Amino acid sequence: AQTVTRGEDGAVTVGGIPVGRLAEEYGTPAYILDETDFRARARAWRTAFGPDADVFYAGKAFLSRAVVRWLDEEGLNLDVCSGGELATALSAGMPADRIAFHGNNKSAEEITRAIEAGVGRIVLDSFQEIVRVAHAAQSLGKRQRVQIRVTVGVEAHTHEFIATAHEDQKFGIPLAGGQAAEAVRRALQLDGLELIGIHSHIGSQIFDMSGFEVAAHRVVGLLKDIRDEHGVELPEIDLGGGLGIAYTSDDDPREPHEIAKALTEIVTRECEAARLRTPRISVEPGRAIVGPTAFTLYEVGTVKPLDGLRTYVSVDGGMSDNIRTALYDAEYSVALVSRTSDAAPMLARVVGKHCESGDIVVKDAFLPADLAPGDLVAVPATGAYCRSMASNYNHVLRPPVVAVRDGEARVIVRRETEEDLLRLDVG
Ligand code: LLP
Repeated sequence: AQTVTRGEDGAVTVGGIPVGRLAEEYGTPAYILDETDFRARARAWRTAFGPDADVFYAGKAFLSRAVVRWLDEEGLNLDVCSGGELATALSAGMPADRIAFHGNNKSAEEITRAIEAGVGRIVLDSFQEIVRVAHAAQSLGKRQRVQIRVTVGVEAHTHEFIATAHEDQKFGIPLAGGQAAEAVRRALQLDGLELIGIHSHIGSQIFDMSGFEVAAHRVVGLLKDIRDEHGVELPEIDLGGGLGIAYTSDDDPREPHEIAKALTEIVTRECEAARLRTPRISVEPGRAIVGPTAFTLYEVGTVKPLDGLRTYVSVDGGMSDNIRTALYDAEYSVALVSRTSDAAPMLARVVGKHCESGDIVVKDAFLPADLAPGDLVAVPATGAYCRSMASNYNHVLRPPVVAVRDGEARVIVRRETEEDLLRLDVG
């Protein structure tokens, strides 16, 4: 877990550094990321799956060059889904053959760059893309390793916008109606492609393992059909990411070793029943690795009690550094971290500084009634999909990511400046 403790004066320290010092040195808001915790989580996934499986960290959750180097050192692979993520991975020295390239609408230029770089796999998302990637590879005189992403038709229990295995959405090719089988037929015919496996990602922030089990069952079913029709046993399956983390104390996440055990068992069992060689399994956790490793440090600006309702606590960031509450109705907790307080708890809503009333960071939380401007508060579990989905709404500058480790802090993504904003404005 994150190395967070309270010192004798009541102030919180992270990785051995008091939050007050972090705020002074790096300003607020800031994402404070515990490198030790990140590496431990990455390693736990790697160890749980062992040498016969691959763990691809999903870069969309949070990507920077430092993170790419940590992943490389810890033996993880990387999933990217845009030219920008690919460029970041390559510039930090991730070997291309350990990169998987995703996306439902990769541009011709992105496809060419990925093939030229030598990415380990491209995950194909449509019939048109099967042809595009095959042609691009052929014209570069290469044979590209690919997987086909299928939708297995399970309803993952999560927010509609982050569920991806039901059929009525943009990702993947449905197993239903023989469409995935037809995609496999086409891919196997094209010289530019080496079809290495089938991919399924059922959604994100999921706690119930049953969706993964159904997905594994159906993907193995497709492998069997492929063997029966083509005499080919595809050597790999990827079961995507999506494991949930604890945002509040109500959430009870599975550990990597439980997930590894469940997935390996079901795939092995199903393959034995179908007399298939067990394929190499890969997974793509993003949130489960980086999510719990960071918190956002804010300074309280104004405190506005509304009689009979609640107290609005405005912090110096908001929906530009954490859109998840507004977008998914996500739940977060918050704590006063610059001191302790014996004051009675008050019902508070932590809001940002943006010009809209939906700019909420934490909907309902109890904070001490003596909370005052200048206090520091922390919102935990903001490592995933907060910096990576941050915006410049209202021309607010995106916060830095500060990595802490063994009593030392360093900026791995710096705070945006007004010059950064103005540099793009060339009118
Ligand atoms: N693999 C694929 C193909 C994916 O599309 C995703 C996430 C992952 C892996 C990683 O999923 P994770 O383990 O991080 O749940 N912005 C949303 C989450 C969108 C997830 C998109 N795809 C959020 O803030 O909850």
